[in-house]
Amino acid sequence: MSYLFTDNLEKYLDIHIMDRHFIFKEMERYADENDFPIVGPQVGQLLYILTRISNARKVFEIGSGFGYSALWFGLGMKDTGTVVCTEHSEENINRAQEYLRSVDILRSTLTFHRGNGIDILSKSNDHYDIIFNDANKEDYPKVFDTAKSKLKKNGLLISDNVLWHGQVTEPEQDHKTAGVVEYNKAIFNSDNFFSSIIPIRDGVSVSVKL
Ligand SMILES: C[S@@+](CC[C@H](N)C(=O)[O-])C[C@H]1O[C@@H](n2cnc3c(N)ncnc32)[C@H](O)[C@@H]1O
Repeated sequence: MSYLFTDNLEKYLDIHIMDRHFIFKEMERYADENDFPIVGPQVGQLLYILTRISNARKVFEIGSGFGYSALWFGLGMKDTGTVVCTEHSEENINRAQEYLRSVDILRSTLTFHRGNGIDILSKSNDHYDIIFNDANKEDYPKVFDTAKSKLKKNGLLISDNVLWHGQVTEPEQDHKTAGVVEYNKAIFNSDNFFSSIIPIRDGVSVSVKL
């Protein structure tokens, strides 16, 4: 689903989707039928490319849902590697594990941790090639504060929904919009990151740690 483009442009983008493993299509169908917000294939294939060109081996995800975005990271890895998935809901984690059983081409490992991904990241002793943020929008500023010390040099901090249905330009902002706006200011004002917003779907920010 797009929030930003005309219907025609959206249809055009939707026909420029790479062929993908059948399980992605099943996950997309489930998301559609259950109104579950996943990144979708346009963003998924971007995550795959960013993983591949950065040669990422260690990815940390905040807000994994039922594993759709995590699977794009996992398949983007050239070789072995790990995607650390974090999710509040046990039901979502169980569903993710069920889907992943059907994917026999994965060389990387996806591990699932139930709880608040920001807290789990803050307690992690590892440093990551990519941190992917799809947390609750009001928590985005906290994600930046936590993630900046947990990335390797040249590591990528990627966030979904940074244009938040276009609401980031509205004068009246609820707490979710305010969280996203504060996050965007932080990534563009930091001397330690170089950032860009890619306006596909709901906007994806990519910030490289300098
Ligand atoms: C937009 S959905 C994620 C979808 C997933 N990234 C994908 O595209 O396939 C957001 C999910 O993150 C979870 N969530 C939100 N904030 C979280 C946090 N701080 N820690 C762990 N899970 C979180 C919610 O339970 C929900 O399942």
